Amino acid sequence: MSGIPIDIQGLEVRYRAQETNEVAALDRIDLSVPAGELVAILGPSGCGKTTMLNVLAGFIPYAGRVTMGDRPPGRRRDIGYLFQRDTLLPWRSLASNVGFALEVRGVDAHTRAVQARAMLDRLGLGGFADAYPHEVSGGMAKRAALAQALIHSPPLVLLDEPFGALDAFTRASVEQDLLQLLAQSGATALFVTHNLQEAIALSDRVIVMSARPGRVIGDHAIDLARPRDVLEVQYTEAFARFEREIWSQLRGQVVA
Ligand SMILES: Nc1ncnc2c1ncn2[C@@H]1O[C@H](COP(=O)(O)OP(=O)(O)O)[C@@H](O)[C@H]1O
Ligand SMILES: [Mg+2]
Repeated sequence: MSGIPIDIQGLEVRYRAQETNEVAALDRIDLSVPAGELVAILGPSGCGKTTMLNVLAGFIPYAGRVTMGDRPPGRRRDIGYLFQRDTLLPWRSLASNVGFALEVRGVDAHTRAVQARAMLDRLGLGGFADAYPHEVSGGMAKRAALAQALIHSPPLVLLDEPFGALDAFTRASVEQDLLQLLAQSGATALFVTHNLQEAIALSDRVIVMSARPGRVIGDHAIDLARPRDVLEVQYTEAFARFEREIWSQLRGQVVA
């Protein structure tokens, strides 16, 4: 499986807050992402990051032109989406949760079980396939959610601040797994975060968004070598340069 390109032109989203009030969430977003690129979308809280992912996933109406591998939102059933909030079903085992993403796509029970276990094995959770979400640590549950989002080999993966609730070391180790899975699959990925260091450490490119209504105000190529150690890379000179360069753009938005 490999990735698909994304092309967004003049994307605008407005929410109707009350009968008469409209909230502009996204304002004239232009963004082209080539197949296989890992792009971080960085911006302050409320700038429209989740809104952008929800447009791509086909969940909400929008104005403008959006295509993913020549198809508009809502016409792809193969996108992987890792949500900000936990989406593991508490009454299902980890294997059954991971297999769920295949179940909704009509894959038979035996194939689901085999593939879910293989995926959990790859993430070091082989011994926990039959455990329930409440029986495992936050990091393990997050890995299972990652497995669930990637099990069907999606050509595009959307990740919405997925690791915010994890402690720093667990987070780094789950991020490392994510990078490895994406490198192997070749999928295109949009990683939403409000964390500058995380954006740089993971991505090929950082898109900086303004405070609401969200606009693209910066586009930075992150040419740090891969494979990357997400912790080690933060101590390099090049990383510090990206940090200064992007922070100078972001600071006005965070304070505003
Ligand atoms: N369903 C909704 N109805 C009205 N306003 C909304 C709705 N969803 C989001 N918003 C508003 O749109 C803006 C962008 O939201 P969101 O995309 O969730 O931002 P982010 O993910 O960057 O924090 C915010 O100001 C938010 O309050
Ligand atoms: Mg959000």
